[in-house]
Amino acid sequence: MNIAKAAVLGAGTMGAGIAAHLANAGIPTLLLDIAPQDESITDKNQIVNSLFDAAKKLKPAPFMLADNAKLITTGNFTDDLHKIKDCDFVIEAVVENLEIKHKLYAEVDKHRKPGAVIASNTSGIPIDSIAEPFSDDFKAHFVGIHFFNPPRYMKLVEVIPGSKTSGEIACKISGFLDQRLGKGVVPAKDRPNFIANRIGVFGMMATIHEMIAGGWTPTEVDQMTGKAIGHASSATFRTSDLVGLDVTAHVTNNLYPAVPDDEDRDVFVLPELIQTLLDKKLLGDKTKGGFFKKSKDAEGKRVILELDLNTFEYKPQVKTKFPSLDAAKGIEDKAKRVKALVWGDDRVGEFLWKTTSRVSRYAANRIPEIADTIVEIDNAIKWGFGWEIGVFEAWDAIGVTESVERMRKEGQAIPANVEKMLASGATSFYKNEGGNHSFYDLVSGEYKPMPARPGVLIFKDIKERTGVIKSNPGASLIDIGDGVACLEFHSKMNSIGGDTVPMMNFAIEEVEKNFTGLVVGNQGGNFSAGANIMMLLLAAQEEEWDDINMMVRALQNAVMRLRYSAKPVVTAPYGLTLGGGCEIAMHGDKVRAAGETYIGLVEVGVGVIPAGCGTKEMTMRAMDAAAKAPDADPLAFPKRHLKRSAWARSQLRHRKAARSDSFATATRSR
Ligand code: NAI
Repeated sequence: MNIAKAAVLGAGTMGAGIAAHLANAGIPTLLLDIAPQDESITDKNQIVNSLFDAAKKLKPAPFMLADNAKLITTGNFTDDLHKIKDCDFVIEAVVENLEIKHKLYAEVDKHRKPGAVIASNTSGIPIDSIAEPFSDDFKAHFVGIHFFNPPRYMKLVEVIPGSKTSGEIACKISGFLDQRLGKGVVPAKDRPNFIANRIGVFGMMATIHEMIAGGWTPTEVDQMTGKAIGHASSATFRTSDLVGLDVTAHVTNNLYPAVPDDEDRDVFVLPELIQTLLDKKLLGDKTKGGFFKKSKDAEGKRVILELDLNTFEYKPQVKTKFPSLDAAKGIEDKAKRVKALVWGDDRVGEFLWKTTSRVSRYAANRIPEIADTIVEIDNAIKWGFGWEIGVFEAWDAIGVTESVERMRKEGQAIPANVEKMLASGATSFYKNEGGNHSFYDLVSGEYKPMPARPGVLIFKDIKERTGVIKSNPGASLIDIGDGVACLEFHSKMNSIGGDTVPMMNFAIEEVEKNFTGLVVGNQGGNFSAGANIMMLLLAAQEEEWDDINMMVRALQNAVMRLRYSAKPVVTAPYGLTLGGGCEIAMHGDKVRAAGETYIGLVEVGVGVIPAGCGTKEMTMRAMDAAAKAPDADPLAFPKRHLKRSAWARSQLRHRKAARSDSFATATRSR
């Protein structure tokens, strides 16, 4: 769908963030908000401009480049709403109040462009009730689009068609959100709080009830419910502190009356303990104290205090030693780790079994109420709550047959669709047969191929299906079809080491002989953390200067072969792309960089000069720029580039802080 111009109505937390992300995708965007009520204020854009200015200063930054902000034009609902007549996409993000939204949509309806998509970012108001007063044509073009906060960094966007939304509109806008904005789109039904928050908040409340019943401390619960089981590192209560207990309570209180038929609805009854915390305004970071509180000790060192749930006083945080959690740290495979912990015959196992099995049963019972398949629930929870392993993936890991047996023994009601699945002989929710993935469709009662994602290749699956052309511990060459080969790094942090360079040379030779082109790309956390400096360090300590010379030359030659290969080379950096990784990325014929790429020559920070052609490349680029400005001092150009390399390490630190911040904020979603 071609969206040449967009409008965002409401410039608060979500509106400003969505507008920034539209601008990140290069889309000119109109950002409107209310004019000040106070008539003595003559500037009608005062509210929108102050919200927009605040957004520009936010950390982590909503804009990928500060200049993207120039694509945004601000205005107010009183004077400028008619300007939406030029917009192909209008998304509303004003306060969560049906009456206010209705009033605004009545104006939108007067000015909207024929065919334009009109969307609401509501987190809880039914889409049908927002569209209810309007024409069928309005309804056909109206859809719920639920971004998570912060919109640039959170992958999940739920698309919620109302009962009269045109299928074509929902489909086209989903394509736009996926391909143009880079989001993970999950189709959701128009049911209370959609998918991620319905399941995520259920999980949070189930955990809180279990903590109270078992007399656990918030720290102990976080030790069990974070990274250990493949959930976000902020686990349960650090997440609650980031989000704000009032927000969680608000969603919970909304859900209880909205889901009268839920078999496990009582989980949404706020325990007395939570009510006390709300009354005492112990909401989390926003009130400078929730389940945890940041403080300083007598020596001024930063310490974390935790709330004593009996006295409501803060005390030093105490991490309990759990042998099972320590042992699990050694289990690299997430699925195996979850299985070991949940089946553990200690208190940790008991806690995790109770919470995990309760969430699993609840999620299965929500199909097809909130989503058609398990895939949507797993994607929503992974992309919206930062879980590395979805509800049904975890259930597979634990073992469906064995866990259902245990539930039965304990007198738990088994979801009818899961009973049926087991009765049919199917024993897992997902299957992987030689790189061909399928999922069990709980509605039709059969396995179906995982939904295809056009344009997406999963290297792991390709390798399972077709094998590799050549591989060593650091890199592989894969045939990805259409006459194209891919050079994939897969060392730790995808660093460039002794294995990478020979594979680069082999890749060029093979592609020049047998392929049309080469892609240098990989799939993991980061494109490459750079050359393995350890090897250089050891050689320097041994004063093996000839060896160092050889290593550097080998990398330079391989990098230059990418540049001068007889066949086209496309590099595809993303995430950290540092040092040698940056040098490789710069030497393709074309670079297809992901939006979230943190790229640079950072070697100076560890005491070495970028020597894999990065310094040469930056100088050449600087001189190209100098040639275009004949009146300027030519030396100023390389100077600027060299300075950038010299400072890159400190900028990286800043970036890293932004990334971890972004993760923290990422969990601040409703
Ligand atoms: P916010 O409070 O930051 O912004 C609300 C905006 O509404 C402000 O710009 C305000 O000026 C405007 N507004 C206030 N009164 C108005 C009126 N009478 N008429 C028109 N506009 C008015 O709220 P936030 O958090 O950005 O939420 C906006 C929408 O996004 C809500 O529907 C919310 O449920 C939803 N949402 C919020 C998320 C979050 O994490 N904050 C996540 C996903 C959805």
